[in-house]
Amino acid sequence: IHSSVRNISSRKISKIKDVMIVGSGLMGAGIAQVAAAAGMNVHLVDQSSDALERAKEQIKDSMGKFAKKQFPDDKQKAQTHVQETMGKIRCHTDPCVPAGQADIIIEAIVENLEVKRDLFHRLDVVAANHTIFASNTSSLSIGAIAASTSRRDRFGGLHFFSPVPMMKLLEVIRIDQTSDDTFDSMMEFAKTIGKAPVACKDTPGFIVNRLLIPYMCEAVRMVERGDATPADIDTAMQLGAGYKIGPLALMDFTGVDLGKHIIDGWHKADPTNPVFQPSGLIDKMVREGKFGRKSGHGFYDYSQQKDAEKK
Ligand code: NAI
Repeated sequence: IHSSVRNISSRKISKIKDVMIVGSGLMGAGIAQVAAAAGMNVHLVDQSSDALERAKEQIKDSMGKFAKKQFPDDKQKAQTHVQETMGKIRCHTDPCVPAGQADIIIEAIVENLEVKRDLFHRLDVVAANHTIFASNTSSLSIGAIAASTSRRDRFGGLHFFSPVPMMKLLEVIRIDQTSDDTFDSMMEFAKTIGKAPVACKDTPGFIVNRLLIPYMCEAVRMVERGDATPADIDTAMQLGAGYKIGPLALMDFTGVDLGKHIIDGWHKADPTNPVFQPSGLIDKMVREGKFGRKSGHGFYDYSQQKDAEKK
């Protein structure tokens, strides 16, 4: 009855109450947290039960910190809020089990087109008719993922930023076939979970990465040419352009390997675009395992910091 009522009122925005998230890594866990904290029923799916356990721990930890700030003088209320939020999250290892109950399915699995297409193809058969499908991909084409399903009108992108509970922005991506109802529902969902949505077409990198990655790569080219040092480039952009963090420190933070993965993918798709040209220095750093903060070395040396964190 539930879904047929929704189908009749097809011009109305469908209220999203049940959210399914596939992939319980860094992003999926964050998305599960914000949806559960907004009162939605969350089905969190991962092929690895260890990943699900880690996600639950991560969410509990992060919720605890948020609740402390939200209820600074009431420990009991804070605890209840954490418990209630955790109680909204159910974990599964088979995506087909909860798919029939979801109003929206958000995918945050490995960044691989074929794996994502295969997942959505399987879900298309078991999900309810009204269910919206969304991918959190950073660099793949939403249209290419959606083409594996028979519901391109109910398909879009929801591109979150890390760490999800802290970052306000949500890029809402529509492909040519995305219906107005689907788009409106995604925008409404974004607001309900406390995000500030911006709309963008299905174009490489959407808004933020499309501007940020070529900017970071141009900074790397400056280093490569010996125009300026990483420290001077970063200081210049902080003090001269008002950025909180310079481009090379930012690349170390987000991962030099991730930067390479994205720029190589775009270059392959559009080889003549000058802002998508790969960089010899980035390739060399990745070969040497200099991935940035996470490996202890990037444009800067973090090995001391890593040792300090371990202690
Ligand atoms: P992650 O590696 O932390 O988590 C991915 C999770 O997906 C893992 O727990 C893995 O077990 C699971 N998984 C992989 N294949 C699966 C399958 N077929 N079925 C079920 N579970 C599967 O990755 P992360 O960083 O959370 O990224 C996920 C997606 O979000 C990627 O598409 C990435 O491009 C995108 N993204 C990442 C951002 C970031 O800052 N890390 C920012 C915005 C988007």
